[in-house]
Amino acid sequence: MPVIAIIGAQWGDEGKGKVVDLLAERARVVVRFSGGDNAGHTVVNPYGEFRLHLIPSGIFYPQVVCIIGNGVVVNPKVLIDEMAQLNQRGIDTSRLFISDRANLIMPYHVLLDGLEEELRGGKALGTTRKGIGPAFADKTARLGIRVGDLLDKEALVERLRFILDYKNVILTKVYGVSPLSLDEIYSQYCQYGERLAPHIRETTIMLEEALAKDELVILEGAQGTLLDPDFGTYPYTTSSSPLAGGGCLGAGLGPTGISRVLGVFKAYCTRVGSGPLPTELKDETGNLIRERAHEYGTTTGRPRRCGWFDAVAARFSTRINGFTGAAITRLDVLDTLPRLKICVGYKLDGKTIDYFPGNVASLERCQPVYEELPGWQSPTSDIRDYEQLPIDAQQYVARLEELISCPVNIISVGAEREQTIHKMPIF
Ligand code: IMP
Repeated sequence: MPVIAIIGAQWGDEGKGKVVDLLAERARVVVRFSGGDNAGHTVVNPYGEFRLHLIPSGIFYPQVVCIIGNGVVVNPKVLIDEMAQLNQRGIDTSRLFISDRANLIMPYHVLLDGLEEELRGGKALGTTRKGIGPAFADKTARLGIRVGDLLDKEALVERLRFILDYKNVILTKVYGVSPLSLDEIYSQYCQYGERLAPHIRETTIMLEEALAKDELVILEGAQGTLLDPDFGTYPYTTSSSPLAGGGCLGAGLGPTGISRVLGVFKAYCTRVGSGPLPTELKDETGNLIRERAHEYGTTTGRPRRCGWFDAVAARFSTRINGFTGAAITRLDVLDTLPRLKICVGYKLDGKTIDYFPGNVASLERCQPVYEELPGWQSPTSDIRDYEQLPIDAQQYVARLEELISCPVNIISVGAEREQTIHKMPIF
């Protein structure tokens, strides 16, 4: 059985949770490999509707082992609350494991995320303020505290004292806010450690065992390709890599281990937070898409910016992820529109270009070049076979397939598991 990476191909919120939930039925292991509780994966299944921030979307299947990989930054309070909420609704979380190498989100990370955003003023990144950027910065600066550190209280207090002294200088001298208390954080994190201890593991061994038995492993992406700190709209990005390559590092798997990479694209584009979105619709059509699709952030509740499908960005996404297939989600959202546009190039300083510029100032000057297609103006949510889709909907999907240069395996026409068209088998 292969390892399949499910990757957000745009700016996040593409509907990866639903796709993972669908495929996890056949899986043995599902691993979250990047981001933190900035992610919000909505899953609608026979147990109800769930909004997951940290726990992999495979948790609803009793045979699936769920792993929070080393590449994730973990806010233990959020994780414990999320586990409790699932338990209250009858979902077992005893099969959830957290890499001992994952870095922890500490109270000063959350505080600094907000303070840094305030300081940026008009140039704020629009972060989720969950402490993600500061936690990844500390990981790279080697000032992080890891999940495994929770298991050794003496070492934890020493490490925390050393780091907190440093953080308190920044909090008090740079930002003029009150210092944080070592005792409070220490006792809080000891409690978290006691609660999480049975779930903390060397998770790469678990992956190796699954692969040795030829069991299906899913790498569950968070955020989207265009929020990647290297390839996204830097600096308006997140702080860890949502790419398939990030899946290797964040789960602890060699590049040869991944055999399928499924890019998840919405049938249009959305973005939450600041930064360029070349096809953004600041008009009635944008509002219509937002309201019809309820495009509001799962994590922050912020309205998402909506726009036409951007095939320039999509092709870039295919190139840097090596997609072997695609899922097109929320096709039904476009059901009522009389005409649809797809961005097939950008006009930049008088020239037409067909690539996604690396420089955010250039990208902000890009004007989309559109191709227009007729809308189908009929409901698609109850359709299960590709051939049953209105011909104009088939042509829209076929054009996307051509432009993004990889086969479409799955089309989603609603939030429920069964509101899915399996156009072409993935395996
Ligand atoms: P951060 O990841 O909280 O630092 O936020 C950085 C940027 O990434 C902001 O524009 C966020 O809105 C965006 N972002 C982070 N996580 C998600 C997500 O799961 N979906 C969509 N956007 C996200």
